[in-house]
Amino acid sequence: MTEERIYLYPVWIRLWHLFNAILCLISIITGISMQFSNPKFPMIRFDVAVSIHNIVGIILSVNYLLFFLGNIVTHNGKYYKLIFPGLSSRVKTQFRYYTRGLFKGEMAPYPLNSERKFNPLQQVTYVGAMYILIPIIMITGWALLYPEVIPSRLFWASGLHLIDLFHITAAFLVSLFMFIHIYFCTIGKSPLSNFKSMIDGYHESH
Ligand code: HEM
Repeated sequence: MTEERIYLYPVWIRLWHLFNAILCLISIITGISMQFSNPKFPMIRFDVAVSIHNIVGIILSVNYLLFFLGNIVTHNGKYYKLIFPGLSSRVKTQFRYYTRGLFKGEMAPYPLNSERKFNPLQQVTYVGAMYILIPIIMITGWALLYPEVIPSRLFWASGLHLIDLFHITAAFLVSLFMFIHIYFCTIGKSPLSNFKSMIDGYHESH
């Protein structure tokens, strides 16, 4: 077995990711506090939670712009291009590995290298999170910041309620993504090696 160290995470991705992770965590905590707080015993005082949530949402949008533009002007964007023919079978193979092969000591079906930074399951979930869920959260979040732009009725429902429903559903899915993402990040050369990659930029594989 030969050890390999590949430089996969450039500085800008590491900085974007660090801010993104911290800001998402703060948004989730303040969002949960706003949604479930008892006015008498709030987790975080309601007006304080709203202010933090709004400011963090604005910074998150600017940070997202860095990711979006970075993926256009650098070669990092190529890792996010889904190749549809055969995708579902590649995802199934990876899923089978994560649920069975891994525990039997089998080799990873799609080992990472400089051409393949993500395995198929990572690729699909990263594209879903970064190009579908986060944009939905951002667009609906901005609309909720300026509710006067929201039509009073959208389809069959109140515009405000529908936009809010999209916002919290996408936010719930990103929270779920984050839990699963952190668990999968522990599957590496050692449980901490993928986290180390996001600090020094180097992915370590066998
Ligand atoms: C505390 C929270 C988080 C931790 C500890 C964490 C950890 C990591 C680690 C170790 C990697 C590198 C390994 C890999 O590519 O799988 C990574 C990559 C990535 N993470 Fe996270 N993450 C967190 C939150 C998030 C959130 C909230 C998002 C998006 C909503 C996210 C999106 C991504 C993406 C897109 C990549 C690949 C970036 C690239 O190289 O282009 N992460 N994360």
